[in-house]
Amino acid sequence: MKISALRADVARHPAPLLALPVLQGDTQDAAFVSLDEAMGGQLAALLARGDLRGTFGETVVVFPAAGTTGAKRVLLVGVGKGADLTPERLRRAAGSAAKQAAKSRAASLAFALPASAVPARDAARAVAEGLVLGAYDFREWKSEDPAAPARVALDEAVLLLPEGADQGESAEGARVGEIVARAENLARTLGNLPGNVATPTYLAETAERIAGETGMSVTILGPEEMRAERMDALLAVAQGSAQEPRLIVLEHRGGAEGEKPLVLVGKGLTFDAGGISIKPAQGMEDMKFDMCGGAGTLGAMQAIAELGLPINVVGIVPSSENLLGSKAMKPGDIVRGRGGKTIEIVNTDAEGRLILVDAISYASRFEPAAMLDAATLTGACVIALGHAATGVMGNDQALLDEVVAAGEATGERCWPLPMFDDYREQIKSDYADIKNSGGRPAGTITAAWFLREFVGEWPWVHLDVAGTAYGDGKISYLSKGSTGVPTRIFVEWVMARAARREASAPA
Ligand code: BES
Ligand code: MN
Ligand code: ZN
Repeated sequence: MKISALRADVARHPAPLLALPVLQGDTQDAAFVSLDEAMGGQLAALLARGDLRGTFGETVVVFPAAGTTGAKRVLLVGVGKGADLTPERLRRAAGSAAKQAAKSRAASLAFALPASAVPARDAARAVAEGLVLGAYDFREWKSEDPAAPARVALDEAVLLLPEGADQGESAEGARVGEIVARAENLARTLGNLPGNVATPTYLAETAERIAGETGMSVTILGPEEMRAERMDALLAVAQGSAQEPRLIVLEHRGGAEGEKPLVLVGKGLTFDAGGISIKPAQGMEDMKFDMCGGAGTLGAMQAIAELGLPINVVGIVPSSENLLGSKAMKPGDIVRGRGGKTIEIVNTDAEGRLILVDAISYASRFEPAAMLDAATLTGACVIALGHAATGVMGNDQALLDEVVAAGEATGERCWPLPMFDDYREQIKSDYADIKNSGGRPAGTITAAWFLREFVGEWPWVHLDVAGTAYGDGKISYLSKGSTGVPTRIFVEWVMARAARREASAPA
């Protein structure tokens, strides 16, 4: 989508669709007033009658009389009280605008940015993200209805700036937002693709394509290389499937040579049947989403490379299926993780942690400056936090604070769970160094403790995205299926680190 930012008369700017944010209870801003004037007071009348209130999430479409305004249609979109306006509210307003564009079959739209306390760059970025995310449509696998009018893709948007908003800042925000949201849409597509298409090989090919397009370097390990690396935990998970596993490594070298990289790790389990500890049939189809952490990692790496962030970043995705059959790992099996610790596999459905620890251990060669990992790791996290927040746990409070802040800034909320030593007891094994399940109590935390056993001397935070990586699509800029989480959190964290590094670098 081509997104530009300019100052223009909202009433006269020509557009098949104009989205106009409406405040609740407050004095409307100049854009509203000028459009209302051009429409002979119709908008003020809607407000007076209570047909339009400006409550957050409200939408009303009006059709100005021919010749009165540049816009053919106007979407009035409620954003709530001016004092409560946040980037996330703007993102959602933009999501509504993109959905209306699809209904109106408009290939372009104008969005009047409201004057607010949100800095111009952040506002433009949020709106650009909302538009690109809202325009996403996963229909590859549906046949077109020949009787229905042809779909029109939204491919252009103009952000109309309020008084005082800097055009350069706004344009820069829109540029960043477009890159981040397009990367997130890539992650959504990878998540939504069925397990028979998005296999480990497919994810590896996707990583190779991203690397080719952005100039990143890519390394792919197959079973042979994994055996040489002694990744027996990852291999144990993969051994029950005809699909070969892959370990995908993308490297963005934007920082100084020799500078320790940030490392992003994402679970790329392309279908989780549970293995011999098989899952119930009900809802098992959703386990195609078990690679969303990996998809977000690939998406984030694409955005980081396209933004050319001045920092070194490595993205690692261990990818496998978890099936059952005569070759599958069995409860009671003991394997040695790449890090050297022996693992008793008491539950083959706790496979995510097995593939992750070999990836985490592999990452030690990069001497991570800090590491985040994201995984649809536990059903327990969905019970604890529902779909409203990603659970975060780690070994470093400052890094945890950074991740929570990145979640807040991007609208992909993160919430900490405690890692008391007590929980560590639950994964002690009678026969091996450690077992892969600590049972039901605090299942999210004992999973994090398992990962922590393989983390080296670097700051690390684990994000359990089981409740947030896919959903019902009720948020205006989303749709049913993959949300793209953790793409935005990952990119935001790396951007914040890059900015901090720039600020402290000697001149
Ligand atoms: N992929 C699942 C976790 C999951 C469950 C994600 C529901 C999204 C929604 C993971 O591999 C798993 O099966 N975890 C087990 C762990 C248990 C056996 C210790 C779980 O949560 O039941
Ligand atoms: Mn599982
Ligand atoms: Zn899983």
